[in-house]
Amino acid sequence: MHEQIQPMTTAPARAIRGEVTVPGDKSISHRSIMLGSIANGTTTITNFLRGEDNFATMAAFRAMGVAIEDDGQTVTVHGAGLRGLQEPGDVLDCGNSGTTIRLMTGLLSGQRFFSVLTGDQYLRKRPMKRVTEPLARMGALINGRGNGTLAPLAISGTQLQGIAYQSPIASAQVKSSLMLAGLYADGVTTISEPTLSRDHSERMLRYFGANLETAGSTVTLQGGQELQGREICVPGDISSAAFLLVAALIVPGSELLIRNVGINPTRTGVIDILQAMGGDIVLQNQRELSGEPVADLLVRSSRLKGIEIGGEVVPRAIDEFPAICVAAAVAEGTTVLRDARELRVKETDRIAAMAANLRLIGAGTIEETEDGMIMQGVESLTGGTVTSFGDHRIAMSLSIAALSSRAPVTVDDVSCVATSFPGFFDLLGRVAVR
Ligand code: S3P
Repeated sequence: MHEQIQPMTTAPARAIRGEVTVPGDKSISHRSIMLGSIANGTTTITNFLRGEDNFATMAAFRAMGVAIEDDGQTVTVHGAGLRGLQEPGDVLDCGNSGTTIRLMTGLLSGQRFFSVLTGDQYLRKRPMKRVTEPLARMGALINGRGNGTLAPLAISGTQLQGIAYQSPIASAQVKSSLMLAGLYADGVTTISEPTLSRDHSERMLRYFGANLETAGSTVTLQGGQELQGREICVPGDISSAAFLLVAALIVPGSELLIRNVGINPTRTGVIDILQAMGGDIVLQNQRELSGEPVADLLVRSSRLKGIEIGGEVVPRAIDEFPAICVAAAVAEGTTVLRDARELRVKETDRIAAMAANLRLIGAGTIEETEDGMIMQGVESLTGGTVTSFGDHRIAMSLSIAALSSRAPVTVDDVSCVATSFPGFFDLLGRVAVR
């Protein structure tokens, strides 16, 4: 999608100051298009994330006959109803988006038509067995490279049967994929995961009128339920806010107010971790927006210290570890991260990518482990040149590392930032005092 390589140099800042909002939540934006498309009636979405990942989801549903309008302010989805999607005339391109391909594999397995899902060079290397294997147990007919484990995936829609599935990993993509398949299945579908992953699908399904039962990290739903379209106001993405939180914490003399950020408890691991490191982050004005909790986050620069991170907080902060690594790199003492093996199968291997890049810009000793890393903090980073590996969150993390470094940091290619945070560098330019 983003063919043009775009290097970017970010200079150190004297402080991070101001009042900002971040773009809408990526996970919620995907789900609003998906559920809106199979609901009855109209869904209107404000603060929709206009990033490449979400445009891929939008394009896929348009290709299945759903009328979706975007006037730049509001996205309007004219729901086709549970059985109203049409066979797409071509392959559906999910771009870089794991959420698009995995959730849609579930949704498409239960349709009455054939479809093919593919993606960019990075997505085609990411594991799909985690969804194709349980879906096959429901009766899904899915072929793909590597014996059905890699995209492109070819799906011959069929009548599915509900199952009870114990997922070996805490993954909202796996859970949501099976829930969407479960909507089309005969009988009841139950999914359990080791610890609770983000529950945006559960919340939005209920908001659209579906009945589901949740207990701890188990969710159960009955197939054949019709959804009713609604108005959705998407909260700001805490995963995007995370870069600004870390930036303001590590640059002395900073004070930043980030308004309207989603604080769903399955997503706030980054706040818990940064606060445990000594970060001064205050939640103000807590409220609810379209079934999701929201707050304004006030953050002030803080002297951070290394901590041990593992267990149930890991899935609640899964996308924020590149940013957390930057905080740990300039914290006092040692940070130990464990139970984070999933980071190795994200847009890139984020453990290897952050360890290699932080070494290039003057970090202390970093020991990679199979499921995390052990890092010694240093007083300040030196700056230098790093590589994004085509991963938006790696690119943004290293750019904020520059803000408290002794010299600028150049990231070889930041075109990937458009997948989740359009306007990131403009926003950084507005809050960085130089
Ligand atoms: C997502 C779930 C997470 C996360 C991804 C978005 C979602 O992936 O990393 O960015 O929207 O469901 P996993 O389910 O693979 O952990």
